[in-house]
Amino acid sequence: MSLPDGPKASSWIQTVQFFLRPLETLDVWHQMYGDTFRVLGNELPATIFFSNPEAIQKIFTATHESFESTQNNNLLKLLLGENSILSCSSEQHQRQKRILLPPFHSERMHDYSQAICEITEKIIGEWIPGKIFVVNSVMKEISICIILDVVFGLQNDDRYNCLKELLVSLFDVLHHPFNSIFLTLIPVLQKKLEFWRLEESLMSQLQQIDKLVYSIIAERKVQRNYPGKDILSMLLEASHESGEPLTNIELRDSLITLLFAGYETTSSALSWALYWSYFSAEIHKNLLFELNSFPIGNDKIGIAQLPYLTAVCSETLRFYPISLMPFSRFVQKPIEIMGYQLEPDTIVNVSIYLAHQREQVYPQPKMFRPERFLERKFSPYEYLPFGGGSRRCIGAALAQLEIKLVLATILSRLQLGLVSPRPIKPIRRGLIMVPPTFEMVVTGVR
Ligand code: HEM
Repeated sequence: MSLPDGPKASSWIQTVQFFLRPLETLDVWHQMYGDTFRVLGNELPATIFFSNPEAIQKIFTATHESFESTQNNNLLKLLLGENSILSCSSEQHQRQKRILLPPFHSERMHDYSQAICEITEKIIGEWIPGKIFVVNSVMKEISICIILDVVFGLQNDDRYNCLKELLVSLFDVLHHPFNSIFLTLIPVLQKKLEFWRLEESLMSQLQQIDKLVYSIIAERKVQRNYPGKDILSMLLEASHESGEPLTNIELRDSLITLLFAGYETTSSALSWALYWSYFSAEIHKNLLFELNSFPIGNDKIGIAQLPYLTAVCSETLRFYPISLMPFSRFVQKPIEIMGYQLEPDTIVNVSIYLAHQREQVYPQPKMFRPERFLERKFSPYEYLPFGGGSRRCIGAALAQLEIKLVLATILSRLQLGLVSPRPIKPIRRGLIMVPPTFEMVVTGVR
């Protein structure tokens, strides 16, 4: 079958529409062309969007000979380095994943759960009734503190504060609309903009971050025994198949990639989770009822397994997925999907948002209804907030643990209210979708 139909506007107009109003644009394209459509017209390599579970299964389970998903994004490469798991080719990717996965195994989650609750309690500990706070800022603070602790084992020394400030401001520069446009451009259009140069401020911030990261690595190496339970300690003990330890550059690229991939994604999910917990009185009541029956004590993993809390978190990530799509896959070897014969160089995008909006899978998809996750299980091709296949997010378990424990800690300590209980819609920030700024007020302390 020839390639699917799709929007006819020029590729630049489509890019601008998708950049400015991604959800609305996807909804319109889906209404007009169905589950599978081709974007960006005929003059560029075909870029196809899929959202049908059958197609998603085929894409996620295909062998690495069929697809390449190296990110040819110059800005990402510059930031994260040539050795980042996001920049390396399929074969290298498998080796990197083998090294990076152990710190995210389920048995490590116990160690991280204590830090997650302690950091949250410290940040909200002094709050008193009447305090109004910007949820997005507080969730960013919680998320950056947790990730610095989990990745570097750093808490409250000068370098920690310095790294924290530099990272937060790097993200702000990166997500300035001009830089954001470059980050999000569909790969084929990025190639047309090779001349584009990074702003000087971005480069100088990156250099300062690198200096700090290399000094932390060097110091840990001198200590020789790596007592920490943090990811850096584990990576210092890891080795390639040849037995060689990771070089300093490989360590730096891996650590920066984890910070980049894990900080704002999780902080945005945290903000949404808190928003939804207070948006409906019924959901709030159900959450409190469950939490009161299992007070926060030493069994943090037990908290994270509570069914209603888990359902609220799952629905949060379904409703407005933080990533609209996993990384693009580039066809290497001809492959047939949904009857379409895709030739090498075709770009394949899975729409997480449209997959999560399927009426057949999620009745009344535009309703926030955690109960749907208690009523049935969804396959990894129907529910995919963390992507899938060999490129699936390595931080998925950590992010879900963090969302549940931060939410449980806040709800158990504070009574809150939305300052303006109106519906809000996500906005784009670089590669991800985040809630717009909103405020809450402390109405009581438990
Ligand atoms: C709510 C939070 C998060 C969301 C929604 C999220 C989502 C995603 C998605 C959609 C992908 C692409 C997967 C694909 O292409 O199939 C991804 C990849 C990745 N994520 Fe996450 N992520 C989150 C948190 C984290 C955290 C906390 C970390 C680490 C600390 C992390 C590290 C990574 C890495 C390293 C990759 C690349 C994996 C690879 O290429 O094999 N993420 N994430």
